[in-house]
Amino acid sequence: MSKKTLILGIESSCDETAASLITENEQGIPIILSNIVSSQVDIHKEFGGVVPELAARAHLEKIDWIVKKALNDSGRKIDEIDAVASTAGPGLIVCLSVGLSFGKAFASSLNIPFIAVNHLEGHALSPKLNSKLNYPYLLLLISGGHSQFLNIKGLEDYKRLGTTIDDALGEAFDKTAKLLGIEFPGGPQIEILAQKGDPKKYNLPKPIFNRGGCNLSFAGLKTAILKIAKNIKNDQEKFDLAASFQKTIEEILYKKTQIAFREFEKQNNPKEKIFVVAGGVAANKKIRSMLIDLCKENNYQSIFPPIELCGDNAAMIAMVGLEKFKIKQFNELDYPAKPRWPLDKKAAFLKGAGIKF
Ligand code: KG4
Ligand code: ZN
Repeated sequence: MSKKTLILGIESSCDETAASLITENEQGIPIILSNIVSSQVDIHKEFGGVVPELAARAHLEKIDWIVKKALNDSGRKIDEIDAVASTAGPGLIVCLSVGLSFGKAFASSLNIPFIAVNHLEGHALSPKLNSKLNYPYLLLLISGGHSQFLNIKGLEDYKRLGTTIDDALGEAFDKTAKLLGIEFPGGPQIEILAQKGDPKKYNLPKPIFNRGGCNLSFAGLKTAILKIAKNIKNDQEKFDLAASFQKTIEEILYKKTQIAFREFEKQNNPKEKIFVVAGGVAANKKIRSMLIDLCKENNYQSIFPPIELCGDNAAMIAMVGLEKFKIKQFNELDYPAKPRWPLDKKAAFLKGAGIKF
């Protein structure tokens, strides 16, 4: 049996310190040997959001231990590692710098290649960790920092079809939760509270619902929720507002995904129609089941990473590393951390006031 590539992945772009070792089997299917994620939720909870300096300090304190644990759990020896892949962006620069420097030093001391990974590319390729996936595929990336439809034509060949023009979807979930008095990060809690409420109770706005192609907008929803939340008198009304928000998001994604389907088909004329949903919000079970039904209606195969690979992790960073190792695409040790690093470099910047559709 030939020796299979062994990649160490490191992630520290926001508030998760993570390390993972992956390899592949004889058929070239990836195998996750270890996947350690240490969340900083408890550190940031009292501030209602991620505090960059505290996050960076926590990464620094933990990274050594997390990488050691990933190595121990993998059952492999340090000198078997073929390359180190670290997230280099996008993210908080003080946080990125920790994992990036650690990865470079690790690779340099072992004299093995270093690979700088785009965090979004990690989410985009994360379904490859457990599904055989051919290009092209349509990706909906919904996380705390990004919400985009992308035509994934091949490795490093990404065309953005639509993006949020203001808040990311995870951000909208977290802000709504905050307005309802739920502790950070409240996104997952909204889904749970919504189960006890009446989704028809409040009629919330759906910004750019009938225009702007498959671009998205969630900021107007937050303003509407702020007004309603001020007058909430009891828990039932809170549950009703959570349910109405969850339903509104489902309706927006239902409509915008159909537009993205048509755009994807126009651009690729694909033999197989594949729709992948990734990022933290892909863990939302109701969004998942709605999108699975939509795929069935439109003859798309739907692929979701397992819940534990939806949020930030280092296995997805190692996955990108594995693909780049195969084509010998390595980076120099002076590769910089990049706070902004779009997957589609040609796509226009579509954020802020003044965007008109
Ligand atoms: O991908 P991720 O772990 O980190 C980023 O790269 O941003 O996504 C985190 C986001 C948070 O906003 C969190 O509230 C949201 O994903 N999220 C959810 C759920 N689980 C996580 N939002 C809605 N429903 C969920 N079940
Ligand atoms: Zn992420």
